[in-house]
Amino acid sequence: MDVQTLLLPIADDMRGLDAVIRERLASEVALINEIGGYIVSAGGKRLRPALVLLVARALEAPDTGVARLLAAVVEFIHTATLLHDDVVDHSDLRRGRKTANAVWGNAGAVLSGDFLYSRSFQMMVAAGEMEVMRVMADTTNAIAEGEVLQLMNAGDPDVDEARYLRVIELKTAVLFRAAAELGAISAGVGPEQYRRLGDYGYALGIAYQLIDDVIDYTAAPEISGKAVGNDLAEGKPTLPLIYAMRAGSSDDAALIRVALRDRRVGQLQNILEIVERTGAIPYTRALAEAHAGQARLALNGLAASPYRDSLFQLTEFAIRRVS
Ligand code: IPE
Ligand code: IPE
Ligand code: MG
Ligand code: MG
Repeated sequence: MDVQTLLLPIADDMRGLDAVIRERLASEVALINEIGGYIVSAGGKRLRPALVLLVARALEAPDTGVARLLAAVVEFIHTATLLHDDVVDHSDLRRGRKTANAVWGNAGAVLSGDFLYSRSFQMMVAAGEMEVMRVMADTTNAIAEGEVLQLMNAGDPDVDEARYLRVIELKTAVLFRAAAELGAISAGVGPEQYRRLGDYGYALGIAYQLIDDVIDYTAAPEISGKAVGNDLAEGKPTLPLIYAMRAGSSDDAALIRVALRDRRVGQLQNILEIVERTGAIPYTRALAEAHAGQARLALNGLAASPYRDSLFQLTEFAIRRVS
């Protein structure tokens, strides 16, 4: 099932979200409008804001105007992290087109990322809900920690599965959790529902990033919209490589260690062969599947509705997606 079909129950909300995004993107500074418009119209999947809206609808939130505003906040923060991430990762392809840093240079990308970050905080102030501020302050802080932790791990072949999982928790899962929590806040639910939906978002986020790290080694750029072997070029010890080093021969492990340390893709073909032979991809997929299962369990207390169905299907999409 593709994302569009999955989000049909909130099609109106998603159109409303698009309007909020475009309206709030506006600045009197021309370059901000240009870069902001470029990245926003590039066709992101908008999964995190969809999460806010699906949870709000599933919990029968009275005012979906608030949920749309909070959904836009989450997408702005996500977009800001991507603008910054592509600078840090030296990436030149995103959403099937050139990254902002490739078009306007690092300075333009970093500064417009800052604009989106701070704009999202202005929008939260407009929403006037202290709990929203708390969640997003903690979340953006965790994402920054995750990106810095990843930076510290880069080029280090001794990073193990636990250290890797900590990175993906901070850089990705906390934002998925926050999206679900914001939906729950807009519906004004009690602590138990709030916690369960947060757990759902968190587990979904872990699964989502595990598959992202699989895609980096498996998908053609025309499909994924991102370059193959980017993670290796950055010396990122992601789970496919961590597992391949563990399960492969000592020669296999040595080859990967050197490639990670030197942050070089010269041996990409050999490494892809080791990844394939050791079963590193099925191993990573199985872990993602386990987290998707956790996410599905967390939906148990939710009343049946088309929105709950979509939340359920999102966990399947996270696993099966190729882009
Ligand atoms: C990319 O997120 C960054 C990750 C956490 C993997 P998405 O895959 O949601 O990117 P867009 O917004 O759809 O482009
Ligand atoms: C995306 O991380 C950025 C954040 C989660 C903050 P990655 O570097 O792993 O994702 P891609 O591959 O660039 O989308
Ligand atoms: Mg990146
Ligand atoms: Mg990646």
